[in-house]
Amino acid sequence: MTENAVTENAVTENAVTEPVARLRTLRSVALRTPDAKRAAEFYDGVWGLDPVEEDGDVTWLRGTGPEHHILEVREADRNGLGKIAFSVATPREVDEAARRLTGLGVPLVAEPGRLDQAGGGYGLRFTDPENRLIELSADVEAVTPRDPGGQDAVPRKLAHVVLNTVDIDAACAFYTTVLGMRISDWSEHQMAFLRCNADHHVIAFNQAEWASVNHVAYEMPSVDHFMRGIGRLRHEGITPLWGPGRHGPGNNTFSYFADPAGLVCEYTSDVAQVDEDTWLCRVWRRVPELSDLWGTAGPPSKDVRRHMAGVPDPGGWWER
Ligand SMILES: [Fe+2]
Repeated sequence: MTENAVTENAVTENAVTEPVARLRTLRSVALRTPDAKRAAEFYDGVWGLDPVEEDGDVTWLRGTGPEHHILEVREADRNGLGKIAFSVATPREVDEAARRLTGLGVPLVAEPGRLDQAGGGYGLRFTDPENRLIELSADVEAVTPRDPGGQDAVPRKLAHVVLNTVDIDAACAFYTTVLGMRISDWSEHQMAFLRCNADHHVIAFNQAEWASVNHVAYEMPSVDHFMRGIGRLRHEGITPLWGPGRHGPGNNTFSYFADPAGLVCEYTSDVAQVDEDTWLCRVWRRVPELSDLWGTAGPPSKDVRRHMAGVPDPGGWWER
């Protein structure tokens, strides 16, 4: 074996055992849509988020928690993902992530630096194997939490993003190996639920015909807030596409709605908390008594499935 071969093996080993960073939280998701204005009005006026900044065709909205913004809605020619943002602890971790990503041959879309966007911070951007834009950031601007456990039935934070993928195994391999996420549970070989902290999942992948955003879920402080949120929407004439109910994997409550752009948003609560030392990944059968623990939601309709499939999202908008 030559010296070179030893070096190459070390790099390969490194790639398998050493994630590029330790992701702390799912900060925010950016959505792109031709109906950005109406969608932003919905998330502000009806859904319960608050705009923190607006700039022409883009709106940033916050929940009641400490994150600067949890949703960005931007005008675009078709529905799609803008980006997914995760927090890391320090700018130095961002720099280290850049070094490791480059070492793994993952091209950076934005080198580490000050982020020229609402909330600022220090971060970098790269793409995953299906050309989704991922941002890692630290030192984002503070906002004062707004009584996040209070009486208002409004979201506290982002709970998770579910992504349709054409190759669930490749997606899981990238997010576990490169980003250090852990698979909390499987729903047969159809869905995989991934965590980066104690929340059962912040990302889930759904095997599908094309890559797209399946839905974005917002966390309510309790089941009571969750139900009153559904009630508030009902008074606005908006009824769930699916739910309310409680899922088996993650044990979280669910109620799915369509926003004015046709993108699916979910109220959830009670997301299972994972103890890293004792948690065992399980495979859940896709049967009604496990997908809908309360027996209140019934099977998902064709309509909700169509909304969750969305339209094919090739990514790459940042290159156009
Ligand atoms: Fe969900």
